[in-house]
Amino acid sequence: MNLSAITPENLNISTDRLILSLMTLTDLSNFSLLQTDVELMKYIGPILSGEDIKTKFLDRIKPFNQEEGHWLTLNIHDKETNAFVGSIGFKLDSIIEQRFEVGYLVLKQFGGKGYITEAGHAIVDFLLNQVMVKKVVAYCTTVNIGSWKVMGKIGLHREGELKSDIFVNEIWYDSYAYGLVNPNFSPAGLTD
Ligand SMILES: CC(C)(COP(=O)(O)OP(=O)(O)OC[C@H]1O[C@@H](n2cnc3c(N)ncnc32)[C@H](O)[C@@H]1OP(=O)(O)O)[C@@H](O)C(=O)NCCC(=O)NCCS
Repeated sequence: MNLSAITPENLNISTDRLILSLMTLTDLSNFSLLQTDVELMKYIGPILSGEDIKTKFLDRIKPFNQEEGHWLTLNIHDKETNAFVGSIGFKLDSIIEQRFEVGYLVLKQFGGKGYITEAGHAIVDFLLNQVMVKKVVAYCTTVNIGSWKVMGKIGLHREGELKSDIFVNEIWYDSYAYGLVNPNFSPAGLTD
């Protein structure tokens, strides 16, 4: 695994319709827009206070220091209009297992256009081919159909259903675990 590939420069990614770039200090309002939308957060977590969202945001924009559990978050902008569309992120889930988890949110007015699928392909490609991870995983509640459809569309496979796995907004949900093992993984890439 090559964790040193995770730099702001390498994470400036252009796809057919989108530009992805790491969130920086100026992106708090976009981050808050997503985090305060009750519908978007329904299966993710409670709506936090402004102060707590800021704390979460400041943690997200910390430089990557190869620490497990730290989510890195990227802005997704429409190339043509420069509109902020949503965010996509990933976290180092396990150093030993060389595994990363991905997650995403899209503003409602930009939903259903395949933007997250497009951004997700780019991030999975980055993780497999530049970071050279062993595995990419994602999780969502079984009722979050849009989310698990995206997971399938970006190449992850459903690996399991976990009962009463996610407790969010006072409700217990079953969840799906999705994963993709890197077909080109090389143990030689183990040393960073
Ligand atoms: C999950 C989410 C990012 C999907 O965004 P999106 O813009 O709909 O994604 P895409 O357009 O790339 O593709 C979604 C697919 O799921 C389908 N879909 C979306 N919502 C659906 C629903 N409620 N029921 C059935 N299918 C649904 C779409 O039709 C599309 O499939 P298709 O291309 O075969 O038609 C968006 O709904 C969201 O931000 N949700 C809230 C945040 C969230 O839950 N994130 C995931 C956390 S694990």
